[in-house]
Amino acid sequence: MNITKDIKYIGVNDKTIDLFEGQYIVPNGMSYNSYVIFDDKIAVMDTVDANFTHEWLDNLSDALESRQPDYLVVQHMEPDHSANILNFMKAYPNCCIVANTKTFAMIENFFGDAASSFEKIIIGDGDTLSLGKHELTFVFAPMVHWPEVMVTYDSFDKVLFSADGFGKFGAIDVDEEWDDEARRYYIGIVGKYGQQVQSLLKKASTLDIEIICPLHGPVLKENLSHYINLYNIWSSYTVESEGIVVAYTSVYGNTKKAVIRLCDFLKAKGCPEIKIYDLARSDISAAVADAFRYGKLVLATTTYNADIFPFMKQFIDHLTERNFQNRTVGLIENGSWSPLAAKIMKEKFSTSKNITWLNTSVKIKSAVNRENEEQLEEMASELCKDYIALSNDSANKNDPSALFKIGYGLYLVTSNDGKKDNGLIVNTVTQVTDTPNRVAVTINKANYSHHVIKQTGVMNINCLSVEAPFRVFETFGFQSGRNINKFEGYNVVRADNGLVILPKYINAMISLKVEQYVDLGTHGMFICSVTESRVISDKETMTYTYYQSNVKPKPQTEGKKGFVCKICGYIYEGDELPEDFICPLCKHGAADFEPINN
Ligand code: FEO
Repeated sequence: MNITKDIKYIGVNDKTIDLFEGQYIVPNGMSYNSYVIFDDKIAVMDTVDANFTHEWLDNLSDALESRQPDYLVVQHMEPDHSANILNFMKAYPNCCIVANTKTFAMIENFFGDAASSFEKIIIGDGDTLSLGKHELTFVFAPMVHWPEVMVTYDSFDKVLFSADGFGKFGAIDVDEEWDDEARRYYIGIVGKYGQQVQSLLKKASTLDIEIICPLHGPVLKENLSHYINLYNIWSSYTVESEGIVVAYTSVYGNTKKAVIRLCDFLKAKGCPEIKIYDLARSDISAAVADAFRYGKLVLATTTYNADIFPFMKQFIDHLTERNFQNRTVGLIENGSWSPLAAKIMKEKFSTSKNITWLNTSVKIKSAVNRENEEQLEEMASELCKDYIALSNDSANKNDPSALFKIGYGLYLVTSNDGKKDNGLIVNTVTQVTDTPNRVAVTINKANYSHHVIKQTGVMNINCLSVEAPFRVFETFGFQSGRNINKFEGYNVVRADNGLVILPKYINAMISLKVEQYVDLGTHGMFICSVTESRVISDKETMTYTYYQSNVKPKPQTEGKKGFVCKICGYIYEGDELPEDFICPLCKHGAADFEPINN
């Protein structure tokens, strides 16, 4: 088979193999690719598996016709490509092996003394070898998939010989989609080495590539961006497709019932794709590849020997050893007397980066009961939240909590009524223009600070940093400056306008002079010029989200019925929250309360 006018394919198909690399089922066989580049000099690119010595040497001699090869380029020493180095050198003893130092060390390990007589060219990363018109550049690609791996670029035909990269399971004469078997191959074999593949892709992006010649699977000549894009997704551990993988083990069918029920709920809620794997009866490499393909994973298993069921244990090991990350995971556990599975499963991901655990988990004690049904539906709702919200038919298009997603910072606004200093926490500071600099600050008219600033026309914005403790919010946010001196006990510092700078817990201070006032009904917006601005520290700014997650104490809602203030944690006990209710602590209205779910 001609790849270009000067490059011929001389690889072989293996239709008899049961397990590739001793573990991967390959129902459509496997190809071991090898190529010859013809020029003034002739280079052979890699050999093939030990079971195909004669078929490959025949392919080579047919391609060569009566010519003799000059070089054997060894890109990778795994035996599916290197097993015939010695046989090749016996057939072509005047040929020279082109490889790197690590490769030659491995050749010696595999072939012993027989390797000592081989003629060698030891190349370094980026070195070139001229065959005539064709100049080969060797690019080291360590750990894609062994440490000695290199790829080779032929600038004349614009061909990248990519070693194991861009390979797939399946013989080369099998007509099947590339993506699925290439993904199962990549995730299984190279999945752990995403960072190294990213480095290789970066190097390859500087080359003008028209053809990719891998060591397994078809030669890629068209639509190369499709394959490169998939490699970029896989090696950066990003989500390739929307959908949910549900992987389970079940001993007597009860856990399976929960999985089926969950999948019914998922379908009803518009999940675009559900992949279900019974781990005891599935090809585990397909389950692993899909866990990396989709963004969400549900694991369901039983407690077993004070551990988890063996197939689940093995499955999670396969994920974590391949650097599983950046995914949402939900857990369903079953245990008749002492359920431990959820805890153990979670612990097994302890070193995995950026795993988002579902808030909902399901604990089955033997068989699925009514409470489990509710948990399963809740889990499906949580998993499908974005699918529901992105569907024009099912989305709640009037959800006021969307506004909380706006990235607010938190600020202490200081002012002075002529008798004492005052301070107020707001999240409504925005720079609105930069020439001239204008900053808008919006304050509830009910707050004493609104009254003071309206009178005086000046304020300081103290940008709170993530160091600010909850007591700062209690002091300045949950009480009125009309009645008390909020700065009592503080050793204050003053800006040039005479107003207070909070001496701790801020990363910047900006003094403002009011230029314009906009009446917004309940609130007033002050549009101000900047009279002074100081950077105090490099600490991160305190955002509303950070405050909610890390600073605000968890409200003690256990055993209580009613509503809790999302701002300060105040609990209103009662069946219904009056619409005009104002939080007595932080003065936020009923919209900032949520029901207590115990
Ligand atoms: Fe196809 Fe890593 O050998």
